[in-house]
Amino acid sequence: MNNAYGRATPTENITLTHVEQGSPMGEVMRRFWQPIAVSDELTDLPKLVKILCEELVLFRTKEGKVGCVDPHCSHRGASLEFGRIEEKGIRCCYHGWVYDTTGKCIEMPCEPSGVCERMNVYQPAYPTMEYGGLVFVYMGPPGTEPLFPMYDVIDTRGRDDVVLKGMKIWGDYSIGYVRDCNWLQHYENVVDPWHLLILHQMISGDQFVGAMMDGTAPGIDFIKTPLGISYHFTRSLPNGNRMVRFGQTVVPNIFLVPNLHESGANPKRQDKPSECSWAVPIDNEHVTAFSIVAWPLENGKPKKDWRPRTDTAIPIRPGSNSLLTRSYEDRQRRPDDLEAQEGQRTIAVHALEKLATSDKGIVLLRRMLSEQVKAVQKGKDPRNVVRDEKLNHAIPTHAWNTILSAEEAAQYAGEVV
Ligand code: FES
Ligand SMILES: [Fe+2]
Repeated sequence: MNNAYGRATPTENITLTHVEQGSPMGEVMRRFWQPIAVSDELTDLPKLVKILCEELVLFRTKEGKVGCVDPHCSHRGASLEFGRIEEKGIRCCYHGWVYDTTGKCIEMPCEPSGVCERMNVYQPAYPTMEYGGLVFVYMGPPGTEPLFPMYDVIDTRGRDDVVLKGMKIWGDYSIGYVRDCNWLQHYENVVDPWHLLILHQMISGDQFVGAMMDGTAPGIDFIKTPLGISYHFTRSLPNGNRMVRFGQTVVPNIFLVPNLHESGANPKRQDKPSECSWAVPIDNEHVTAFSIVAWPLENGKPKKDWRPRTDTAIPIRPGSNSLLTRSYEDRQRRPDDLEAQEGQRTIAVHALEKLATSDKGIVLLRRMLSEQVKAVQKGKDPRNVVRDEKLNHAIPTHAWNTILSAEEAAQYAGEVV
């Protein structure tokens, strides 16, 4: 017996899990544009947000520009979340100082003329940009902003069959609502295909439909790609077809999940995910996520009733996005990603884990993240920073579902398809 008396809990892996400014992984995260809000959330009111352990106030001026500033007014600290949005900036509610989207104070109504110019006050601010219906912020050292990376699944230049929509994920087509735990627990889940067979099937019933839930015992392996770690899942389906599936992480915190509800009925090649997602640390103990979804158009309008990742009717997954309405008993009887990941402790303790062969994806991912930490500490760009406009076109990702007929499966055995 490994008696529990006197057992100790070592500290967490601070290097990979903590994300505050100056922390190793926090600095890696701060070398990328991070999604901070859905564009539609910026209305005529400011929005207080927390990301990477920092509170920030986001606002869209009446001219349409987006600003992202420290909440506490440079004058005497009132929170700009209570400010008023105006033509060119945000006006502090207390004494009316106005800041533009660069943080420059452009008006001090209680001061004689000339004082505002003379004092030359700048509210701490971060650069922002918008793409695909999301607002992104760059929280790294000034002047080091990379290009926004145009991965194939969200590069719609030259395409007229889809429109990009930004959204918070874990909605009703959810992959599981995860919140009160460290970001890495959620991110590692992307390269943990074994849990699909256990958590989402054996324990909680078929939480997906189609090929993911049916067929022979799968073959699972992991590969390193130029972008991150990708898993490889193959199995023969009851209808004689063969499924070949790749899911991918794009380090440090992007992930691509192909359709989890692929029916497997019709042969198809490299059916890519319809969305690109980010696991975004709110702080060290909370994570949220955003997606840009390439939504199909029908007669020039976004297709109604279409849901990403499905080509069949999608069942409501028990538990998804319904944390508040689920009883504790239901959570115990049919746990989901939320229960599994939060249950690993608020911040998982790597030193206590007994990693086994099925954890190869986790090991490869942690190793690759550690390499990015070292790169940033040496003053280098981490993997996936894009600076060359010529290379920033439909960057190929390694995530898709392929369905082979029985004849094709024999023909392409062992090849990447
Ligand atoms: S505290 Fe903001 S203007 Fe005075
Ligand atoms: Fe899951």
